[in-house]
Amino acid sequence: MANTTAHRFIHFGTGGWGAEWCREFLPRLVRSGRLQPAAAVDINPDHLRNAVEDYGIDPDHCYTDPAEAFARAEADLVILSTPPEPREELVRMAAERGLDILSEKPLAATMDDCVRIYGTVQRAGVKMAVTMSHRFDQDEQSLQHLVKSGRLGKLGAVVGRFTDSRGRAGGYRRVGRVKEVLLIHGSVHHFDILRALSQSNAARVYARTWNPPGVELSGNSSTFVIVEMENGVRCQYEGAFANAATLNGWEHEYFRAECEEGTAILNNRQLTVLRGGHKRKWEVERLPLLQRPTWMNEWLAEQFLDWREGGPAMETSIEDSMQCHALLYAAVESAETGQPVEVQTFLQRHLEAIPE
Ligand SMILES: NC(=O)c1ccc[n+]([C@@H]2O[C@H](COP(=O)([O-])OP(=O)(O)OC[C@H]3O[C@@H](n4cnc5c(N)ncnc54)[C@H](O)[C@@H]3O)[C@@H](O)[C@H]2O)c1
Repeated sequence: MANTTAHRFIHFGTGGWGAEWCREFLPRLVRSGRLQPAAAVDINPDHLRNAVEDYGIDPDHCYTDPAEAFARAEADLVILSTPPEPREELVRMAAERGLDILSEKPLAATMDDCVRIYGTVQRAGVKMAVTMSHRFDQDEQSLQHLVKSGRLGKLGAVVGRFTDSRGRAGGYRRVGRVKEVLLIHGSVHHFDILRALSQSNAARVYARTWNPPGVELSGNSSTFVIVEMENGVRCQYEGAFANAATLNGWEHEYFRAECEEGTAILNNRQLTVLRGGHKRKWEVERLPLLQRPTWMNEWLAEQFLDWREGGPAMETSIEDSMQCHALLYAAVESAETGQPVEVQTFLQRHLEAIPE
């Protein structure tokens, strides 16, 4: 990669999960000189302190008004770690100025917003990627690598589980605002992993959502989902934000890949292959996890800079993310109607509605 000039960025949303961007994901890239802070923006001025303290932006370059930041800052790209609702407007302003965009998931709060964002990015010809971070965690990458290697033969089915316990703040903050809060803010990661493991886009999805007994939330916190992939792989997924006990919380999810010559199980960050098992006599193979210096958001930020410097397009480019979000919002439609949804028809119907 020839270009060694620092990429100047405007960071929108420096509190909440954005505080993790300030503290964990960006400082090393700033210190190494690959990234240079041009502006930090948060509608809550108290949250701007995170950017000042953690990656050292000059307080004079902190703003509470996105339009003012766009007008004043000299930048090459934006990082969006706001909630999804303001995303469309922020993408429009960035794209008008030719800035590339790295955005948190979900891409937007509705499928209509997603396709409008997609149209804006296509017309402007800028690069955009979504940080589908959990697909790029060490344990998930290790399972994906094993399945893709073909060592276990053809993949037939995937079973996934994310179940967290009530009382944790993570999933609850938006329950008053988002009806399918688990699907939109949690399961989107797991849909993305189902696509990556099966190496296919979704053909159809059927989803049911609810709240467990005794849990009174306005948004649905539990789900069972069945997905059929275009290449014939079948997927079954269970998700919960508010069970009594956590079985497989964040970064400790369960995925089982049923392959021709082995059952690969990822469970609480341990990867095992089982074969046989008649009378409980399995042939058990424990596999080490892959190693590399960075994972998840920090690695995705590096990939984004590599892409800007002429490297390969990111796996989670907006084009790829449209398939992930089509599966997500088709699942939301299925949960609402009680009917299975044809995902590619659902996506086409929305794409045709993109304004010129
Ligand atoms: N990848 C992951 O694992 C992961 C984990 C948690 C959250 N997230 C995602 O990160 C995003 C943010 O989530 P959150 O829980 O931090 O949300 P949040 O509501 O706490 O908001 C984050 C920050 O954005 C600011 N903000 C809101 N609107 C803004 C605007 N128009 N301009 C500038 N700043 C604005 C808020 O003041 C806050 O400081 C969501 O899309 C969420 O799904 C991802």
